Amino acid sequence: MRRKTRSCCSPSCRPPAARRAALLAALLLLSACGGGKDESLRIGAALYTQDDTFISAMAQDLEGLVREAESGTGEKITLFIADGKSSQSTQMDQVDRFLARGCDVLFVNLVDRTAAAVIADKAEAEGVPLVFFNRQPVAEDIQRWDQIYYVGADARESGELQGKLVLDAWRADREALDRNGDGVLQYVMLEGEPGHQDSLLRTEYSIKAVTDGGVEVEKLASETANWNRAQGAARTVQWLEEFGDGVEVIFSNNDDMALGAIDALADTPRDRWPLIVGVDATAPALEAVAAGQLYGTVHNDGRGQAQAMMDLALALWRGEDPAVDLKEGHYVWLPYRPVTLENLDEFLED
Ligand code: GAL
Ligand code: CA
Repeated sequence: MRRKTRSCCSPSCRPPAARRAALLAALLLLSACGGGKDESLRIGAALYTQDDTFISAMAQDLEGLVREAESGTGEKITLFIADGKSSQSTQMDQVDRFLARGCDVLFVNLVDRTAAAVIADKAEAEGVPLVFFNRQPVAEDIQRWDQIYYVGADARESGELQGKLVLDAWRADREALDRNGDGVLQYVMLEGEPGHQDSLLRTEYSIKAVTDGGVEVEKLASETANWNRAQGAARTVQWLEEFGDGVEVIFSNNDDMALGAIDALADTPRDRWPLIVGVDATAPALEAVAAGQLYGTVHNDGRGQAQAMMDLALALWRGEDPAVDLKEGHYVWLPYRPVTLENLDEFLED
C-alpha cells in the first residue's frame, strides 16, 4: 500500500508550540516511529452542512470513536471538523486549510458531488488519503487515485426496503391503505436534494418495489424538500389542501421530511392519517415510530459508516491493510435495515 512520505520526525507543518510537543512525543515514541508513522494522527473532516440531523449525528459518532480509539490504543488522534454550510467554495477553503495544517487523512462529505475531482487531485498532490462519505462521487473520480475511498450505503437498497414496508402494509391490510377502495395506491413523494444519489434512487426504487409487488400506484405529487423538516411540512400542507384524504401514502426520502409531514398532519386534525415512511432511523424518527405516527423507516447506519472511516484512517496512517470489507479497492458499503414498531426495540437499544 502506498503511503504518504512525510516523515514522522519532521512535523514541520505545525505551529511552534505544537511542534515542540510533537518532537517530544516523537522522541518518546521513537520505536513506534520506526515504521514511518507520525506521532499523532490528524484527521480533517469536512461536512456539507452541520445543519442536517443525520450528518450532525455522524459527526458526534466520529468524535466518540476518536475518544474510544485514543483510550484503546494510547495513540493521539486529533479530529478537526469543518461545517461547509452548504457552500462548495467554503468547503474548498476548508480542505485547503486541512492540507496546509498537515492533516494525515481527509474525510469529505461533499457539498456538490461534482467537486470531487478537484479535491481528489489536491489530496493526491499532498499524498493525503481521502475518504468521501455519504455524498457519493461518480466512479471516475473515486478511481483517480488508489488512496481515495467512499464509505456509504447503497441508496437503491434503502429505496427497495422502504417500498417493501409499504407493500407489506398493503398486503396485510389493504382496506386500511386503499381508502377510496379503487385498488390503486395514491401517493405523494417528499424528495431530498435534487441530484443527490439518495434522492434519485430512493424515489425510483421505493415505487418500483411496490409496483414489482403487483400493486398499481398513482403519483399525486413529488417535490423536493431538501432533506429538511420545515420544507417537508410546507409541501405536505399544500398537498393536504390540494388532495385532502386522497393521499394514501407519504413516501419521504428521509426522516426529517417525514417528521415535517407529521408536523403538518398534527396541525390539521383529521380522523385518519396517510401511511408515512422515511429513511435514516434518527432518534426523533424512532420516537415517531413508537408513537404510531411514522409507520416505518429504514436504518441508515451512520455509526457503522463512521466506524469504517475511522478504521480506514487508522490503518492508512499505520501503513496496515484496512480491516474493512473493501469493494473494488475503494468502496465500503454498510447495509440498510427496515424498522417498524415490530423490531423497534433493536434500534432503541443502539
Ligand atoms: C442521506 C440522509 C439524509 C441526509 C443526506 C445528506 O443519506 O438520508 O437525511 O442526511 O444523506 O447528504
Ligand atoms: Ca386508492
